[in-house]
Amino acid sequence: MTLKGRDIVSVFDFSRDEIEYLFKKAEELNDIRRGRTLNIATGKLAAITFFEPSTRTRLSFTMAMKRLGGDILDFGEVERTSIAKGETLADTIRMIDGYGVDLIVLRHPSEGASKLAAEVAEAPVINAGDGSREHPTQALLDLYTIWREYSCIDGLNVGVMGDLKYGRTPSSLSYALSMFSNVKVYYIAPKPLQIREEVLSRVKGKIEYLKCEDLREVIDKLDVLYVTRIQRERLPHPEDYEKLKGLYTVTPSSLKGCKDNLIVMHPLPRVTELSHEVDEMKHARYFQQAVNGMVIRAALIKEILGL
Ligand code: NCD
Repeated sequence: MTLKGRDIVSVFDFSRDEIEYLFKKAEELNDIRRGRTLNIATGKLAAITFFEPSTRTRLSFTMAMKRLGGDILDFGEVERTSIAKGETLADTIRMIDGYGVDLIVLRHPSEGASKLAAEVAEAPVINAGDGSREHPTQALLDLYTIWREYSCIDGLNVGVMGDLKYGRTPSSLSYALSMFSNVKVYYIAPKPLQIREEVLSRVKGKIEYLKCEDLREVIDKLDVLYVTRIQRERLPHPEDYEKLKGLYTVTPSSLKGCKDNLIVMHPLPRVTELSHEVDEMKHARYFQQAVNGMVIRAALIKEILGL
């Protein structure tokens, strides 16, 4: 099995076998959780080109590269680059690629940006989030977190809750889950934020799914509850945020009646949709989930670089 040189634009750039292979490869890198730096990627350089705010994705790719012993070329703030002068994405990527970097990690507000970058760059491109469409490495770390908990993905009941319409993590997670067997997904959201038809059409027949508005209707069935924030910056009418915020908040009492081994996940950042009181519950996994992101991204980088 080889991922060497592979562009990762979509979750569908992986097969199920490759996803499971990456879980195992990530487990071999567990030392980096304890702060060890491995000299696997010495002399290798990853360009971190982020055109949108990010904390975890940027830092975990950076940490992953450094823990593998490699280095990063950080694109920095968009305002300090020639993008502010009107340079196109294609020109920027072509130029960074020309410097001879080994990998380009790209986050961009436009859907399709990573595909374009992958077309112009010789170096492999990893999509670190493009608009509302996809965030494949988030799905990878989400599944890795579930797999570490349950040792499998098949047969699980997953509740995906929140802004399923404008968020990219619910789409990528749905696509990733659709590669496994007998998974049931409950899409829990107020009507204006329900999952897009385009996503459902791609998972139809592969997962069983049910849309609902109230977590209480399904809480007793879930093995995983994946909560997401309202994507305020992507709403077509920003004033809608005031109407939508507060429509749902997960608190300890919303989890009443849940399975004993339910895990609560969140890609983070959270705003008001997940109460801090849940952090103290045995179900909370979102901070471990973020750490898992560093490890599985390190495994992915190692495989893409053929190390
Ligand atoms: C997510 C994203 O950027 O899509 N964050 C992340 O990468 N962990 C979720 C979000 O911003 O709501």
